[in-house]
Amino acid sequence: MNEKDYSQLLTDASEQVKKAGRILLEQLKSDMIRKKAPKDFVTDIDTTVQETLQQGLRNLAPEIQFMGEEKDNSDLDLSKPTWILDPVDGTLNLIHGFRHSAISLALAVQKEVVLGIVYNPFSNEMFTAVRGKGAFLNGSPIHVSGCTELSEAVCLVGTNPAYRKNSEQVFARIQRLYENSVDIRRMGSAALDLCYVACGRADCYVEEGLFPWDYAAGILIVKEAGGKVTDLQGEEVRIDSNWGHVTISNGILHDRLLQLV
Ligand code: IPD
Ligand code: CA
Ligand code: CA
Repeated sequence: MNEKDYSQLLTDASEQVKKAGRILLEQLKSDMIRKKAPKDFVTDIDTTVQETLQQGLRNLAPEIQFMGEEKDNSDLDLSKPTWILDPVDGTLNLIHGFRHSAISLALAVQKEVVLGIVYNPFSNEMFTAVRGKGAFLNGSPIHVSGCTELSEAVCLVGTNPAYRKNSEQVFARIQRLYENSVDIRRMGSAALDLCYVACGRADCYVEEGLFPWDYAAGILIVKEAGGKVTDLQGEEVRIDSNWGHVTISNGILHDRLLQLV
């Protein structure tokens, strides 16, 4: 598969994601909420969106294996081409009518993300990228901000609702960010946090304890929009990590941000 094929695949997969987004909005009226664990929720929408997309993507490219948040992925070999799906990123937002959630879909080949789609059906905003071809919002090119001072930066942060053991450390980091930036935001969807940095609505974003489906699509979109993506130590963010830490910026702020986190 070459870059031209990825562009075609992006077009086809985007249609599938939009279709799943319509189902999400329809289902919202009659939804059931279940608990995976204390403070970790799943709704029937998560499973319906995942099943719809798994089937649709299988029809598109049967040779590509499928990783989804709401299934067992232990049999996957990530060195093979893999779809990585979060059917609803921002489930708690969905449950609370916050209207800020997204379907996040990436394609990884040899553990590198080559295509990413993040779609918020509430705002009808679709962020997309193919490796080497730039990042887009609803088809128009996007770019990270030109903010040069952390003191003027808007920083997005995450607080893992399912894992609170290191909350002291997490909030100490958030406090440092708050004290050194213009302000912070906690929006509730990691995939959209990444895309908001990509299109310049925010200047940086830091969160720990994420899974590949939260960030795989978004990290490509940030990189293709000219931003920088590392873990908290400044190392590369891998998609085969199950406790991923991300430090995201417009690039200009990155060294300063790493010193703080
Ligand atoms: C969550 C969201 C949230 C982040 C959590 C994730 P989910 O994903 O991305 O912003 O802070 O760590 O688990 O559970 O809504 O798919
Ligand atoms: Ca998620
Ligand atoms: Ca999810």
